[in-house]
Amino acid sequence: MKKILITGGAGYIGSHVVKALGEEGYELLIYDNLSTGNEWALLSGRLVQGELADRAALDRVLTEFKPDAVIHFAASIVVSESMAKPLAYYRNNTATALNLLEALQDHGVERFIFSSTAAVYGIPEVIPVNEHAPLAPINPYGTSKMMTELLLRDLAAANPSFRYVALRYFNVAGADGGNRIGQAYKNPTHLITRALKTASGIYPELQIFGTDYATPDGTCVRDYIHVDDLASAHLLALESLLAGGDSAVFNCGYGRGYSVREVVDMARKVTGVHFTVTEAPGRDGDPPALIADSSLIQRTLGWKPRHDDLEYIVGTAWAWEKKITGK
Ligand code: UFG
Repeated sequence: MKKILITGGAGYIGSHVVKALGEEGYELLIYDNLSTGNEWALLSGRLVQGELADRAALDRVLTEFKPDAVIHFAASIVVSESMAKPLAYYRNNTATALNLLEALQDHGVERFIFSSTAAVYGIPEVIPVNEHAPLAPINPYGTSKMMTELLLRDLAAANPSFRYVALRYFNVAGADGGNRIGQAYKNPTHLITRALKTASGIYPELQIFGTDYATPDGTCVRDYIHVDDLASAHLLALESLLAGGDSAVFNCGYGRGYSVREVVDMARKVTGVHFTVTEAPGRDGDPPALIADSSLIQRTLGWKPRHDDLEYIVGTAWAWEKKITGK
């Protein structure tokens, strides 16, 4: 069976992809510094704890494991934090990707899947946004990911035997349908997680960041995609690359948007808790609306979303939240 190196595989999205690839029988090595990931989240594979900046450690892993492909998740992901600490984002996202790609080149590893983001589009002119839209990020997080996409583009142009798929994730949410893994950040910032932790009494209130955006109800609109559907997109991208498929960039979302208020309503419905909501100023770097046109990945790889249902997304996240809080 093919061997896949997964950086950041102990994190929220990575662990769901580890689960999906493990079920298909891939041999997995997870390289993770456990800064936000957890060893218990690994339902498959072997963990090597290490830093992407540590070239010697990377060389040891590559020499020993000899992966057929790499899936690169490890990154910092909080938009507002990137506004305050831009250099940390360029170092942790762009510079480490460069380091990883150099190591892979030296070891002859030529299949690569990259966790990119809708944040590369900034404020799209056309919604739903497709992959041809200009890249115009409005925060360092999006720029740091865009720069890695450009590294990949240029590397593939210079070396046609190197093939990559960049997946531009929209708002990933929900948890494993079997309730074994889910989001477990120490300081979660994502809307659905914050709403559910408010419902379970961990936070006294949920703040809505910004109510005067140019959207139907004034709050930001996002395209929430269930993490297991995103995992299946990775599996298809991997199969394509291993079968000799071309490099590609794909959006991953459902093509429909929900406002912050609509998410709050769903969280109240699913939990049965009418938790307190307050209005606060918009966060720096937040685009008003992000909705994916994901027809390309559906056409090209045959990706079929199975959980395009906000109630299911919030429901699985709530089941997980209750499990980890022991309620
Ligand atoms: N929000 C609130 N209150 C909260 C948390 C969030 O109102 O307590 C709002 C935000 O302002 C935003 C929306 O809910 O309008 C979604 O915010 P998230 O923090 O859940 O997600 P973001 O859209 O900021 O970012 C996420 C990922 C990024 C990714 C992006 C792509 O964190 O990595 O989706 O759309 F790039």
